[in-house]
Amino acid sequence: MSRKVIKSVTNLYDKKIERLAEVPDEKLPPLKNNKELKYIGRGISRIDGYDKVSGTAVFTFDKILKNMAHARILRCPHPHAKIRKIDITKAMNIKGVIDIITKDNTEKIDWYDGDTFIFDEHLRYQGDEIACVAAENEVIASMALKKIEVEYEILSHVTDKMTAVKEDAPKLYDWGNISPDANPAKYNRGDYEQGLKNADQIIEEEYNTQFVIHNPTEVHCSTVDWNGDHLTIWDSTQGIFAVRNSVAAALKIPQNKITVIKKYMGGGFGAKLEAGKYTVMAALLAKRIGRPVRITIDRKEMNLAVGNRPDSYQRLTVGVKNDGTLTALGMTMYGAMGAHRDGAGCQWPLRSLYKCPNVKVEEYHVAINTGRSRPFRAPGHVQGTFAFESIIDMAAEKIGMDPIEFRLKNYAEVEANWEIPWTTKLLKECYKQGAEAINWKSKRNKKAGEGKGPVKRGVGMASQIWWGTGGPPAYATVKLNRDGSVHVLSGTQDIGCGTYTILAQVAAEVLEIPVERITVSLGNTDEHPYGPSSGGSMTASSVTPAVYDGALQIKAKLMSGASALLGVREDNLVYSQGVIYSKDDKNKKKSIQEVVRETHEQILVATGARNARPQGVMLNSFGAQFAEVEVNLETGKVKVLKIVAAHDIGRTINRKLLENQFHGGIIQGIGYALLEERVIDHYTGKVLTTNLHNYKMPTIKDAPEIEVIIVSEGDDQISAIGAKGIGEPAIIPTAGAIANAVYNATGVRIRTLPITPDKILNQVYNIG
Ligand code: MOS
Repeated sequence: MSRKVIKSVTNLYDKKIERLAEVPDEKLPPLKNNKELKYIGRGISRIDGYDKVSGTAVFTFDKILKNMAHARILRCPHPHAKIRKIDITKAMNIKGVIDIITKDNTEKIDWYDGDTFIFDEHLRYQGDEIACVAAENEVIASMALKKIEVEYEILSHVTDKMTAVKEDAPKLYDWGNISPDANPAKYNRGDYEQGLKNADQIIEEEYNTQFVIHNPTEVHCSTVDWNGDHLTIWDSTQGIFAVRNSVAAALKIPQNKITVIKKYMGGGFGAKLEAGKYTVMAALLAKRIGRPVRITIDRKEMNLAVGNRPDSYQRLTVGVKNDGTLTALGMTMYGAMGAHRDGAGCQWPLRSLYKCPNVKVEEYHVAINTGRSRPFRAPGHVQGTFAFESIIDMAAEKIGMDPIEFRLKNYAEVEANWEIPWTTKLLKECYKQGAEAINWKSKRNKKAGEGKGPVKRGVGMASQIWWGTGGPPAYATVKLNRDGSVHVLSGTQDIGCGTYTILAQVAAEVLEIPVERITVSLGNTDEHPYGPSSGGSMTASSVTPAVYDGALQIKAKLMSGASALLGVREDNLVYSQGVIYSKDDKNKKKSIQEVVRETHEQILVATGARNARPQGVMLNSFGAQFAEVEVNLETGKVKVLKIVAAHDIGRTINRKLLENQFHGGIIQGIGYALLEERVIDHYTGKVLTTNLHNYKMPTIKDAPEIEVIIVSEGDDQISAIGAKGIGEPAIIPTAGAIANAVYNATGVRIRTLPITPDKILNQVYNIG
């Protein structure tokens, strides 16, 4: 297999970046079609299932080191303040308190791209970090927090983005409150004004989406340990290399002096894609006290300080001809990024879901005095798809067209932003199979809200587009031992989705050996070749091709060894289930163990790499979800009865894990649509929902029947494996489909998430 250094690859947002690392750009042989595959595609159970259900799996929180101290963070109780004075004397006098760090006794360390420091005297939200205590146990550390005396200069605050953009609003930064990166972020294509003139109907609507909190089951935590000048970090993270690199930069030590380890994890959803301030604080404390330190963020801190999905105000305009042709799409949006800079936009679904020549977008990303937003499972697309797919349904209704027909009428055959074709796009097939499975024809009310009685039923749908088709750099080392057992190693991580299992399946497929003979080792920056952060639905699509490459290299070595041992030319050999035979004489054979031993090898090792992305084509996943809901107009309660998720996600690697992902994403999407909201009292600037009692996440009782339909097979332009990611597509269309179903059931259109009973009743009874 030939390899060369390629000049450039197209990244997610089409910026040209130079790559010097070795990236194979020649194609490996694609996999066979699904039916002929023995391991890939099958719904085998997680290979780490025993560890997890037996409780023997070591999560970061379980990592206990000898002589370990426990750290807790003092956080600002006010939404906006400056520190006048900190006095740690009383706290230090508590028995069991070992050390306390603050801005007064540490160096200034830049954080959040230089917008702030690890300890800043300017506190910009309730939850901002003031001090960190190391104590003999967590109880003492928590007690000590109460004894730290802080004198504040209280500043006026703003916790609402539409207030924050006004002239006289309190300002968080020298640059004001609107992010200089998006003031506004603009996009134009075609002639929007002319597009509106060409329209027969113009629909204008306003939508609002709420802040939601990731709230993964496992809280954020790190355990850190110095050994001389080497720092080891056990971290609950979606990106071991990302953590290593930012902690190295913060502490100004070389990256090779830090090892980051993560074995098991209870979810992240985007909130754990980057290093936390808490990890740096733990490292500073551990260095000062000469002991390992564990730091854990509690549920209240989770709800204040480690990320959220930004909210949105979206004013959308749709121009449409009476025959259903879209002529113009417009969007003005404001999203709150919290107290530090981060993206809060949601323009992509509007720009890329349908064919429309004239598009105009203006986005403002606004700083407010609350915890910073972070990527959250399909950042932007979840907010954007809810609003855009709602107004698309309204446009269809206005011209008297069925919503699916309307979407087909405006089906994009070519990606509109760059005018290039997709590698594959099977969205039509998603519409067709999804509609059949939900029984669209018989269940869809011709007129919204028709039918007698207070309990109404209806169906609705929404479409999905996402990136997540993977790319370099991603490496995996495959090792074949003398006994025929196999080790797969990659510096990516399994954040709970099943990465351990799918990588074993790929090696099993190539080497034709049972999954039980394969061990997968992930999540160690020193021991494993580089693997990507687990974000953007990129892990399976990036790493499985690297394992495939590595396993094929091992197989090639085995074939060449067997050829020498058997005295048979390689093209006269056949590989079957770990045994290599001569085509002419089935008795002439060598098992893979024999080949390794008899060629006097101790072990065979090969490192595979993820291929470059194909050029000149667009890479996206697609899907459509269909919701059937029941709405009680006397109580306002919405019950989701069924979700059909029909998606084009390339190759399925593991059917069971794939369904897991869809169930998780859809239930999280139901939370977004109906239940979840971070509520702020704007007067005090404080968050009212800081625990899982009043921050309402869905439970299994809210879970509907879920049917997952995959319309695709491998997309071999993407990679030889041909997988597109599924983690994020699973949640993208859920809220839009539910909102459209609620409208179909009741005739009530809720434009502000979550769709709570009060909002439905207010409209039914015409209250404000
Ligand atoms: Mo995701 S928001 O890339 O974890």
